[in-house]
Amino acid sequence: MRAKMTSNEVLGSGKAKQRLQPGAVGHLLGLQGMSAQELRSFLTLTQQVGRGKHEGSKVLAGRLIANLFFEDSTRTRTSFSVAARRLGGDAVDLISAASSVNKGETLIDTARNVEAMGVAALVVRAKQSGVPHSIAPYVTCPVINAGDGKHEHPTQGLLDIYTLAEHYGRLGGFDLSGLTVAIVGDVVSSRVARSNIAGMTTLGARVVCVGPPSMVPGSVRHLGAEIDRDMDSVVEHADAVMMLRIQFERVDSAKGGEANKTPGIASVREYREGYGLLEARAARMKRRAVVMHPGPINRGIEIDGPVADGPRSLVLRQVFNGVLVRMAVMLRLLGGA
Ligand code: CP
Repeated sequence: MRAKMTSNEVLGSGKAKQRLQPGAVGHLLGLQGMSAQELRSFLTLTQQVGRGKHEGSKVLAGRLIANLFFEDSTRTRTSFSVAARRLGGDAVDLISAASSVNKGETLIDTARNVEAMGVAALVVRAKQSGVPHSIAPYVTCPVINAGDGKHEHPTQGLLDIYTLAEHYGRLGGFDLSGLTVAIVGDVVSSRVARSNIAGMTTLGARVVCVGPPSMVPGSVRHLGAEIDRDMDSVVEHADAVMMLRIQFERVDSAKGGEANKTPGIASVREYREGYGLLEARAARMKRRAVVMHPGPINRGIEIDGPVADGPRSLVLRQVFNGVLVRMAVMLRLLGGA
């Protein structure tokens, strides 16, 4: 199929402009390169949604969003569906395991066919980096990146920033200066880390990535983060400690296959002792410091259960705010705000 000229091209995501335009009006593809003003606009809208300003607005009345999920999800997919319903619309799910992608259909053809059914937006998750960006020039509706490979997860980044700002009383302006956020673990595999580093540093936070060199390589500095290998020291100074899961599913099977299920670390037990947020470590955090995790959590590996469930934990607040953020994103992209 050939791409048709669409209004999206004018907005910077057309085939003639293959350079990605994160945050360009029309799509939400990533937070890297997004200005502070643009970030604040999404976050302020989230705050308004949280205060009930758009309650009952029915902006999506009679409209459907399509969740095109070519990779597993609990939080993101459900959250987009809940958000669509709270705006008066609805959501349909395409799950890759039951789709014609398995018969050889391309993801772009799949997206165009679903769009042809009259959906208002495509929410796309994929194992491969760049899939939402590849789809965007070929459709006329907004594309929202719900996580692409190791690249970006912009709505997760926004909800994490919002949750952090809420805890520290920074909702007026979303200025995160003076806050140090530690992102701990498998940063190299993490789209959440990339979106958070971009968004948080743009808003003034200091982001320190913590982990062994195989998970936190020196190249992370190019994203705007600092690197520290000493978890014990970092937990005592950070205002927020965001733990990441080891993404075993992203281990390159060509580099060791079944024999290499623990990428670049001697063992999970050793990793946990060096970098896990154990109860004893969490007890040394600053008085107001918080624990965050995008989920899914692997209890007993990167974080102890009592820490994930403890008084410092914002994990379920992140999930709660995720619905508000996704409502805000849809209000923005689908014309309600
Ligand atoms: N945080 C996150 O993306 O979770 P899911 O994979 O369950 O959507």
